[in-house]
Amino acid sequence: MTTLEQDLSLDTLLASIWEALQKGASSRLHHFHTGVVATVSDGAPQVRTVVLRKVIPETRTLIFHTDQRSRKISELTENPNICWLFYDSEMRVQLRLSGNATLHHSDDLADVQWKNTRLQSRRCYLSIPPSTELAKPESGLPESLLKRNPTLEESEAGRENFTVVETHIHTIDWLWLNSSGHQRAKFVWQPSGEVVSSWIVP
Ligand SMILES: Cc1cc2nc3c(=O)[nH]c(=O)nc-3n(C[C@H](O)[C@H](O)[C@H](O)COP(=O)(O)O)c2cc1C
Repeated sequence: MTTLEQDLSLDTLLASIWEALQKGASSRLHHFHTGVVATVSDGAPQVRTVVLRKVIPETRTLIFHTDQRSRKISELTENPNICWLFYDSEMRVQLRLSGNATLHHSDDLADVQWKNTRLQSRRCYLSIPPSTELAKPESGLPESLLKRNPTLEESEAGRENFTVVETHIHTIDWLWLNSSGHQRAKFVWQPSGEVVSSWIVP
């Protein structure tokens, strides 16, 4: 999604959405490199920023990494409904993607993703559990890791806390803010795999 034209077809638009998401996953500088993920907690919404790690358009999959002990994992175990929100402030494009989450903690996908994780990222998984109450502001990391990354060997202790959240998308809501009239489109995948695409009022 580098440029947008007024008379874009829905098919071209959908292809450009997946392309932009793939760029987001691969480039730290892209606006879609981070997104906001919403879960449901006892009927109430919960949102947080995560890094978009991988996008597979063919299976409509978006992946992020998290700590197995974090609140979002218990929320997703209870209710796998999930929603992603992205905003590209240069393109003035908002994306909302709804779907279902599958958690991967001790399988091949988690192993592969862990192998590709940098030491700096692995450090987070070596803290005491996320959301633990503290007497003073602290990171929860062991003293020895406050000022350096773990060695490869030290980092392996974090593997048991590492989880891959695979999200399978069934609906995309695209919004483009435009001075000559905003535009909005909706893509809904049917159980058959067919996508129903439409322009809707912004
Ligand atoms: C820029 C940014 C990127 C983040 N990326 C991740 C991430 O990829 N995975 C993750 O679990 N938390 C990430 N976080 C932290 C979460 O936003 C959140 O604070 C944390 O995961 C605890 O959320 P929970 O209590 O809802 O589980 C990120 C935060 C920021 C500000």
